Amino acid sequence: MEKLRHMMNPLDFSVEELESLFDLAGEIERDMEGYSHKCDGKILATCFYEPSTRTRLSFETAMLRLGGKCMGFADASNSSAAKGESVADTIRVISCFADICAMRHPKEGAPMVAASKSSIPVINAGDGGHQHPTQTLTDLLTIRSLYGKLSNFTIGLCGDLKFGRTVHSLINALSRYEGIRFIFISPKELRVPDYITEMLRQKGIPYEEVIKLEDIMPQLDFLYMTRVQKERFFNEEDYIRLRNFYILDKEKMALAKENMFILHPLPRVNEISVELDDDPRAAYFKQVQYGLYVRMALILTLLNIK
Ligand code: CP
Repeated sequence: MEKLRHMMNPLDFSVEELESLFDLAGEIERDMEGYSHKCDGKILATCFYEPSTRTRLSFETAMLRLGGKCMGFADASNSSAAKGESVADTIRVISCFADICAMRHPKEGAPMVAASKSSIPVINAGDGGHQHPTQTLTDLLTIRSLYGKLSNFTIGLCGDLKFGRTVHSLINALSRYEGIRFIFISPKELRVPDYITEMLRQKGIPYEEVIKLEDIMPQLDFLYMTRVQKERFFNEEDYIRLRNFYILDKEKMALAKENMFILHPLPRVNEISVELDDDPRAAYFKQVQYGLYVRMALILTLLNIK
């Protein structure tokens, strides 16, 4: 019998396993029809204790495109969590109904607790300010598709680097590739957490922390913009003060390399001006499309369907 596998962190898969996953995502992109019955009879549960547009609908579309079915909840207030049911009990129940589960939760580590009690694969669809591994798979596949490689880059990550879980997962994942140099661009209140810079120091991976985006634009091979995470702030005044700290616009993009792509996990608020949406370097909506292919590949891999 195959060992039960979950996806809690992008590091749960080796670099070689990720390559296979991305190759499979590429095959799916080229031949969607050929994969349209691979999950006939399978059910995906989406248990979302926090709001989502992309991740939940991308998972559900992925399962539907594979021929399977979906069920779940998009609002925990309509589930028995509102009556006090624990995540551990909920996943035991979901395991009786579904073949695989994608879970988003505001508490860091909640999907991990679920995985420890589950008899079906559990995918972390975002846990608090901690990790968002399938966004990272999306980001890596997008980068690989745009540049044909995942090594030898100077990467700017800009915005809310403290609470942005997509940033934490992406740094973790990219730190395994050759020749990566990070530039962290944030106000001092939203700096990347110390445990991440400590990990980079230990691995000897070069990084710089700056406040002004304009100063480093010409150095970047790509720029990962992020939204200031309103829902993680303890104090509304701080959020209001910091929310428009960075706004990427045409003037700033004029300082960038001609082939410097802009990525963003979305949702966007004000941090990328809509005037850039038609710039050929704006890759953030393409990213969403890659998210579908990689989630299809992940579902097949975790269900061990060839
Ligand atoms: N990128 C992302 O996680 O978007 P949603 O919050 O809409 O799922």
